[in-house]
Amino acid sequence: MRLIPILLGAAALTLCASCKTKPPDAVERGRMVYMTNCIVCHNANPNLPGPQGPAVAGSSRALLEARVLHLSYPPGYKPQRTTHAMRAFPRLKNQIGDLAAFLAAARQQRDKNK
Ligand code: HEC
Repeated sequence: MRLIPILLGAAALTLCASCKTKPPDAVERGRMVYMTNCIVCHNANPNLPGPQGPAVAGSSRALLEARVLHLSYPPGYKPQRTTHAMRAFPRLKNQIGDLAAFLAAARQQRDKNK
């Protein structure tokens, strides 16, 4: 019976070790930001159009920064839509890189499945 606490302790240590060796990477963090903020309008699969917003997989960092922070577009960019239905998320300014990583990974996934 004295073994049980030792076993539980070992299990806890193992769990902790695995969570330390695998922190969420940029793609994972970007996925969480996207699922939390964007899929009310964009598709949960960013390769497809959503209920309101167009497909956004593969969006560049510059495009995301312009759109998400300022509701603008980078100079010379031709928008997919001419509507003005999106709203800005200025508080995501430190998450733009993660979002770009997630959307790039989603585009790569689609290209691989072609
Ligand atoms: C309220 C609905 C809504 C939300 C929430 C929203 N979008 Fe949009 N998004 C749109 C719509 C609609 C467009 C088309 C342009 C417009 O009407 O503003 C768009 C356009 C875009 C574009 C430009 C696509 C192109 O190539 O022209 C990007 C990139 C984008 N959204 C990314 C995001 C990201 C990332 C989030 C989450 C942080 C987000 N959007 C949240 C509705 C939304």
